[in-house]
Amino acid sequence: MPSVGLGLWKIDKSLTADVVINAAEIGYRHFDCACDYGNEVEVGNGLQRVLQAGAVCRDDLWITSKLWNTYHRAEHVRPATEQTLRDLQLDYLDLYLIHFPISLRFVPFEDRYPPEWFFDPSAESPRLELDPVPIQDTWRAMEGLVRDGLVKNIGVCNFGTSLLRDLLSYAEIRPAVLQVESHPYLTQDKLLRFCREENIAVTAFSPLGAQSYFSLNMAQESESVLEQEAIKEIAAHHGRTPAQVVLRWGVQRGTAIVPKSSRPERLRENIALFDFELGNDEMTAISALNRNRRFNDPGDFCEAAFNTFMPIYE
Ligand SMILES: NC(=O)c1ccc[n+]([C@@H]2O[C@H](COP(=O)([O-])OP(=O)(O)OC[C@H]3O[C@@H](n4cnc5c(N)ncnc54)[C@H](OP(=O)(O)O)[C@@H]3O)[C@@H](O)[C@H]2O)c1
Repeated sequence: MPSVGLGLWKIDKSLTADVVINAAEIGYRHFDCACDYGNEVEVGNGLQRVLQAGAVCRDDLWITSKLWNTYHRAEHVRPATEQTLRDLQLDYLDLYLIHFPISLRFVPFEDRYPPEWFFDPSAESPRLELDPVPIQDTWRAMEGLVRDGLVKNIGVCNFGTSLLRDLLSYAEIRPAVLQVESHPYLTQDKLLRFCREENIAVTAFSPLGAQSYFSLNMAQESESVLEQEAIKEIAAHHGRTPAQVVLRWGVQRGTAIVPKSSRPERLRENIALFDFELGNDEMTAISALNRNRRFNDPGDFCEAAFNTFMPIYE
């Protein structure tokens, strides 16, 4: 898995195909998609144009997508994967992840796609509706996708060590990747160490920290990792931007990272990480910024945005 991928959450549909094409020209080969991002058709159009142009072939690409919460029942896993493959115009995914350890009531594809969080958005007081499915059932169906050649690797997002340990107790095909939030304010050292020992690769989402959450009112401007003096000093020392320092720290500690941007200059900036190295002291100073601040927490945002208390980490 290439260590830098393009995150596609919140990239506007109208821009998505061009961003994908632009990113591929710049050198991105790893694309982090999801049914829930609502732009897989547009990602597919972009990828198709990249492949038709001929400079990049399918084997050069690493395409990740994610199983949405409403499709955890075994019988829905394959139709959900097939919908994603049709939208992305691909024969297979390199990686398919369970998006959250939250299983919501099924919404038929023809009623609404992607279904998002509410079961019935037109209800008087819309809420999330759970349909508890053992993760083991979902995982068995995910394993079937590998055996049938629809996906090459499977994994999970937003799991902690307890859920992972349970998953490993029955997995016939082990999770190849764990994708979790991680940045200097949420270093997740024990989780990363556990994954290293279990040979599970880790992808850090929201690798820039608060940046993604300002517009959603899920972070204060004062929480910007990029404004930290320590980061700015290290950036000045290397002649790099604060974002590059934070992203380089992510790569150098052994995680893959999937920064999102729709801006060509930032796409370039966010992948130009391989011609400088942070010293041990600098790595330590950045890790010391940790304050266990999770910006993407269903225990907070599901109540604030979806009228339903849905903690998963406590
Ligand atoms: N599995 C999960 O549950 C989960 C959850 C969240 C995210 N993800 C994945 O992880 C990806 C990345 O996370 P994210 O989108 O939340 O956050 P992010 O990539 O850390 O940050 C994106 C934000 O930072 C800005 N930005 C990008 N490059 C910058 C730079 N060089 N300098 C300053 N600002 C910059 C972007 O604005 P502009 O676009 O305007 O440049 C955007 O507002 C997502 O797109 C998604 O693929 C997965």
